[in-house]
Amino acid sequence: MNADAVRVVIDLDLTGPLVSRHLYGHFAEHLGRCVYGGFWVGKDSPIPNIRGLRRDVIGALRALNIPNLRWPGGCFADEYHWRDGIGPRRQRPRMVNSTWGDVVEDNSFGTHEFMDLCELLEAEPFVNGNVGSGTVREMKDWVEYLTRSDDAPMANLRRANGRQAPWQVPFWGVGNEGWGCAGHLRPEAFADRACRYATYVHDHGGNQICRIAAGGINADYAWTEALMKALSANQFSAGGPGPYQAISIYRSVHDSELFRDRGDALDFDTDAYYRTMVQARRTEELIARHSTIMDRHDPDRRVGLVLCEWSTWWQVQPGTNPGFLFQQNSLRDALAAAVIFDGFHRQAGRLTMANLAQTINVLQAVLHTDPETGALVKTPTYHVFEMNKGHQDGSALAATIVGGPSRRVGDHELPLVSASATAKADSALVSLSNLAPDAGQAIVLDLRGRAVKGFAGRCLTAPRLQDHNTAARPAVVAPRPLGSVSRHARGLSLELPPQSFATIELDLGD
Ligand code: AHR
Repeated sequence: MNADAVRVVIDLDLTGPLVSRHLYGHFAEHLGRCVYGGFWVGKDSPIPNIRGLRRDVIGALRALNIPNLRWPGGCFADEYHWRDGIGPRRQRPRMVNSTWGDVVEDNSFGTHEFMDLCELLEAEPFVNGNVGSGTVREMKDWVEYLTRSDDAPMANLRRANGRQAPWQVPFWGVGNEGWGCAGHLRPEAFADRACRYATYVHDHGGNQICRIAAGGINADYAWTEALMKALSANQFSAGGPGPYQAISIYRSVHDSELFRDRGDALDFDTDAYYRTMVQARRTEELIARHSTIMDRHDPDRRVGLVLCEWSTWWQVQPGTNPGFLFQQNSLRDALAAAVIFDGFHRQAGRLTMANLAQTINVLQAVLHTDPETGALVKTPTYHVFEMNKGHQDGSALAATIVGGPSRRVGDHELPLVSASATAKADSALVSLSNLAPDAGQAIVLDLRGRAVKGFAGRCLTAPRLQDHNTAARPAVVAPRPLGSVSRHARGLSLELPPQSFATIELDLGD
């Protein structure tokens, strides 16, 4: 145990911006075993399902209160033609998923199956339109198919396929990765294209769409600049809503700054772990920098910033299809997620949505399904989402860490304690991480402004950073009660084990 207690000061009555539940969003792409074998097994599968959708997956995700689900990609979105995925399943045309594994896609999971999934999950759909290889008309028709209620041709086509009432679709992605899979465009060229496509994504009836133009990755600020400039050049500058209401960015975390240096998901040493934590923490800095560019064009913060894909990204698990992006998920991934979420809470004034890449069996998934037995496994990252779910729609609170150990990692000074907090009417939630793998950390929560009536702590840790869950050992990394929390003259005191993530729920009720 580190002898010096670190003080975390929280003013419980000084609330900041809303931490939208959409910061806990998800992403399902037609990639590897995310949709097929992950969400979708088909009605005839021996795996218990609801109209072809895995029952256990729905249960596990509902327990996270997942607020939204992005689909059908990713890069796949820019080669997806929605009309291939409607009507009787056996008659649907096939296609080649050329981005992911070069496999044949039979389109058995399409628009109706996705909307059914969202309804079962009680999650809001985030449909990503095809700007790369689709037409403006195709996108316009898809919106009509989904959301119109009158006797318009697309609404009638939907009814002919078995769905009477229109759906609500609050989020619409305009393309994906303009610099790559949407056509290798320059930022300015893509911004013009996004304006044109978004113009035809209409609001029908009571359905109001937030159109999200695809932006840049990591520190590629040219995309944010170009997308915001294009908005300023539109009626947006005269007070109108502009063709799109949000722009996105992408973030992938490795154990270095460079994408090509992706390490192994499990075979890593302590130095690589620390480098990963530096990169996880850097996510907040990148969000803040993109935000600053947006502030210049949009000081009133009318345009949302959406981190439409974030994850750790390791080499694929040996022996699996390199195009399927399956990677194991260890305690290191959970700690990376915890640090990233702390940054999200602090940046909530501009960050309106974030989507984990991806929900099942791809990259930093929260769920794995065994390809042979079908067994469902909750990854360590799942537990961070679950322990943090109380932050959804809370108000951000500043959690100021006074002092605290840090470690030199290359050019960076990495603080070893990370914290964030939110409040609701009668409760608050504090998230704390101790990133040191070799020392526990005493913490004093210096709580001001409101009386704390009760408290409960939970902790996620494991003996090794490489520890992970499998079908045979599903709870190696799983939350347990944190027994060390007790009253202190300043609020509460507690002890964080080495390499741990903890949440402390505070009862502020009368
Ligand atoms: O999430 C996997 C892929 O990563 C997505 O298809 C793409 O948008 C990104 O490069």
